[in-house]
Amino acid sequence: MPTTTIITDDVALAARTVAAGGLVAFPTETVFGLGADATDPAAVARIFVAKGRPQDNPLIVHVANIPAIESVAQRVPETARILLDAFAPGPLTVILERGKRIAPAVSAGLNTVAVRIPGLAVTREFLSLTGRPVAAPSANRSGRPSATTWQAVVEDLDGRIEMVLKGAPSLVGLESTVVDCTGSDPVILRLGGVSLEDLRAVVASTTFGGGQVAASPGTRHPHYRPRAEVVVVDGPGSPPSGTAFLGLSGPEDRTGYARFYRYESVDEYASHLFDAFRRCDAEGLVRIECQAVPAVGIGAALMDRLTRAARKAVGDPSA
Ligand code: TXA
Ligand code: MG
Repeated sequence: MPTTTIITDDVALAARTVAAGGLVAFPTETVFGLGADATDPAAVARIFVAKGRPQDNPLIVHVANIPAIESVAQRVPETARILLDAFAPGPLTVILERGKRIAPAVSAGLNTVAVRIPGLAVTREFLSLTGRPVAAPSANRSGRPSATTWQAVVEDLDGRIEMVLKGAPSLVGLESTVVDCTGSDPVILRLGGVSLEDLRAVVASTTFGGGQVAASPGTRHPHYRPRAEVVVVDGPGSPPSGTAFLGLSGPEDRTGYARFYRYESVDEYASHLFDAFRRCDAEGLVRIECQAVPAVGIGAALMDRLTRAARKAVGDPSA
């Protein structure tokens, strides 16, 4: 598998590389994606190898605009249309019936497909230049914190993929909200950049089905973990040595922490979480205390990532 990974700003070159069957990591507003031609089974298979991703965890297909969704799904039901009109382009992924063009491995054998239109204009330019739907999981080694900078992509995937399209750090910093639109009412399978409250303001019958493992296969695997142990706390305490603190508490609470990451808002905390995890690992810290936040708005998605990152690997029934 060793490959030379080219790091570039050239959007057209990145698009040609995907069209030729290559693996190209690219920026999005949520986290960086690891893209391949969603209609090419061999290219899709290579995503799973490069990430070390379990075969039963399906991928999200990325397209440049709403009309392009027609070419990846059998049909676009009314509720999906309403949600897409409200939140696309943006951090929303809809689950639809899979169209025939999409390689079955993208959906890990399910007859549905996850589709998203990313918010960044440069991402949509890249997607439209490829001339095809692009399957892309987050661009990290499986189980690790998602990559929110191009440098984090290189850290995890250098030598395993053809190219990294550089871009600014991801602003949202947490992944998209995954919403199943195949039934009569939308069901959230994964919390993310669009909140439950935002979705309900547009389609009032939206429910949260989190934890429905059969419906969202990816949620059963370990996720978002730095090497350091993650602990969710109410606030700063008396930490053992080699501990970092992440949260909203004031600088007066810094005492005893090897690193103190203080954020001004929940949005900023969410935006920097995965990068902070990686920085703590790079510094060899052993414990990361993450302050809990109210589970409303983006705070609900942040709490979801924190509790998953904090799960013990051994004896974890959901791992
Ligand atoms: O923000 C994002 O969503 C990022 C960027 C790159 O777009 N992508 C991302 O992909 O987070 P990934 O592979 O890390 O997570 C995809 C999630 C998994 O939880 C997977 O189980 C779920 O989407 N998923 C994909 N296809 C599905 C399907 N057909 N049915 C149910 N869940 C699906
Ligand atoms: Mg992921």
